[in-house]
Amino acid sequence: MTITHDTRDTRAGSADPTAVPETLEERVRRDPTRFRVSTGDRPTGRLHLGHYFGTLHNRVRLQNLGVEMFLVIADYQVLTDRDVADRLSEHVEGLILDYLAVGVDPARTTVFTHSAVPALNQLLLPFLSLVSVAELGRNPTVKDEIAHSRQSAVSGLMFTYPAHQAADILFCKANLVPVGQDQLPHLELTRTVARRFNDRYGNGTSVFPEPDALLSAAPLLLGTDGTKMSKSRANSIALAADADETAALIRGAKTDSDRHITYDPAARPEVAGLVLLAALCLDRDPHAIAADIGTGGAAALKRTVTEAVNEYLAPIRARRAEYARDRDHLRGILREGNARANAVADATLKEVRSAMNADY
Ligand code: TRP
Repeated sequence: MTITHDTRDTRAGSADPTAVPETLEERVRRDPTRFRVSTGDRPTGRLHLGHYFGTLHNRVRLQNLGVEMFLVIADYQVLTDRDVADRLSEHVEGLILDYLAVGVDPARTTVFTHSAVPALNQLLLPFLSLVSVAELGRNPTVKDEIAHSRQSAVSGLMFTYPAHQAADILFCKANLVPVGQDQLPHLELTRTVARRFNDRYGNGTSVFPEPDALLSAAPLLLGTDGTKMSKSRANSIALAADADETAALIRGAKTDSDRHITYDPAARPEVAGLVLLAALCLDRDPHAIAADIGTGGAAALKRTVTEAVNEYLAPIRARRAEYARDRDHLRGILREGNARANAVADATLKEVRSAMNADY
């Protein structure tokens, strides 16, 4: 199954009112050099196939189209999660390995940790002055995270992290952010911050762009238990897992008792999730895959999925193992990325301070 990006961009203005507006995706393809992407991940553990088909695959595609990209390893934002702080550097290294394995090219894409970029973090202060406590409190993603966190109290960082994410995006003046649905409230806040900053300090010019979200076109991938594939649920197939671990996970996946395999996400989410996984890896239509398996039942389905996934991931895993052998090289990539991000952030902060009349 091929992931297509064809969401109509209703915001795109056009001189001819009868013309079908160009989609954001079409604009990116026509002129990739006009776009700059900022996106990233919290370093919480190994990335999995949900990340891969949801966003990693799209990032590499954008990079290869010629879009300039900043990939933030959100090592301050991750402090909102429990249990990761003491293994942070291991998680950061693992994330870089996952990026390299799927085709992120550090010569073209800047990979950096936001804690290493002081000027980025300093943007948080003026940004916080532009949003109200009520606006922060309304953010549905943060509310959801608070509801699911096992913390006894909500930290100030948890409450304000979307404003920090605005700094991750605006420090490099990114105008395109490829994200999933759950990140839309953060992007909306980023747009608000950019607009208000420009209104208040821009003096008729715009210091920051209002970035657009490029929504992932991939369908939501379910984990082996039939719920959303998630690092924290032990239901996900990690890119870094080996073939045996993958086979064991798929063998234990939830299915149903109907031996006739069909692709029916509404009525049979667990079976459909497995079929979809095979379809994405084999780049085939999920209905055709289900038809091929026919009355073979769950065992045949799982065999097909295991083979498809392991074959698809084999070159990615081989590359990952290769990069993992040279930790100095990894550290070098991060040092270089941090240096580039610092140069960009310093220039932006200089502009910000000058716009605020604070350039003494
Ligand atoms: N909040 C994002 C997540 O949990 C990670 C992230 C941090 C991010 N900074 C970003 C995403 C900037 C896009 C842009 O997945």
